Amino acid sequence: MADDDRLVSGSRKLDETENLDAALRPRSLDDIYGQDSLIERLRILIEAAKARGEALDHILFYGPPGLGKTSLSHVMAHEMGVNIRITAGPAIERAGDLAAILSTLRKGDILFIDEVHRLGRAVEEVLYPAMEDFALDIVIGKGPSARNVRLKLPRFTVIGATTRLALMTAPLRARFGAVYRLDFYSVDALVHIIERAARMLDVPIDRAGSEEIARRARGTPRVALRLLRRVRDYAQVRADGIITKEVAQRSMDLMEIDELGLDDIDRRVLHAIIEKFGGGPVGLDTIAASISEEADTIMDVYEPFLLQLGFIERTPRGRVATPRAYEHLGIEYNQTEEQQRLF
Ligand SMILES: Nc1ncnc2c1ncn2[C@@H]1O[C@H](COP(=O)(O)OP(=O)(O)OP(=O)(O)O)[C@@H](O)[C@H]1O
Ligand SMILES: [Mg+2]
Repeated sequence: MADDDRLVSGSRKLDETENLDAALRPRSLDDIYGQDSLIERLRILIEAAKARGEALDHILFYGPPGLGKTSLSHVMAHEMGVNIRITAGPAIERAGDLAAILSTLRKGDILFIDEVHRLGRAVEEVLYPAMEDFALDIVIGKGPSARNVRLKLPRFTVIGATTRLALMTAPLRARFGAVYRLDFYSVDALVHIIERAARMLDVPIDRAGSEEIARRARGTPRVALRLLRRVRDYAQVRADGIITKEVAQRSMDLMEIDELGLDDIDRRVLHAIIEKFGGGPVGLDTIAASISEEADTIMDVYEPFLLQLGFIERTPRGRVATPRAYEHLGIEYNQTEEQQRLF
């Protein structure tokens, strides 16, 4: 890719001490592998907005962590040639904080709000007219002489990102004209992402090595890049520096990441459901408490992939381990009567 060439042949090579997450971030849509239909829809959005000389419609990205919501938001700004202001739901404490941010935006600018489901009520109230009418309602003065003033804002774009669509209020969700779900990546797309990063980091790796990492990366670019870094360490210290399939396997085995990408916590979740709660159904909070992990972490990070693998199912009465999960862990499957009714 052109962008890779520029980075690798440019004046500097990236190293571990730099902010790698930011450095490895794709810059343009051409740097993004996978998510094909999403990317095509984004291209159309961009071309249409450009042709009309307008700001992009408000966009909402949702999906599990590490799939590229933040990256895509930066890419959208780059493709549109506009500025991006970055903030996050919990960072905007008062309505006035948001008003201050909004008043600095220029025409076409992107306001990226990460964890948009965590905006406070009062802050959302300011955001509604800003997104809908490009207006900022402020109160001037106090007491009986106070009056409302409506300021006009330039046409700008909000890009929201969330791992928890269900926690967003309906009125806020309704104000996003384009809503996109990010899916887990194919092994093939992850291989490309790993190879691009390896070129940028100057890490020698062969195709079989990339594939091995990609297979264990739980469909997630962030995980793939993290594994690449750890496997590189291993290759340097315990092998001759080159990441081959065998080196990748040995290194990830040592990290206790199995051939499907499950780690210690995934396995503890499954073991808890199966061994402590008879295979389920059991509530997520109960599972979390029984293995001393945060329920939120399990819900955001672990559960989506276990669902994707078909290892657990969500039922109205809680989570249930499926026969596949038993098989993967090598535990004999005996269905209880309740489970027979559920499946
Ligand atoms: N399509 C992609 N191609 C190449 N690299 C990617 C892609 N998607 C994500 N990455 C890389 O994966 C890492 C995580 O991506 P990003 O921070 O955008 O995820 P996110 O969805 O915003 O996660 P979170 O929900 O945790 O904020 C980044 O370092 C980025 O470089
Ligand atoms: Mg992010």
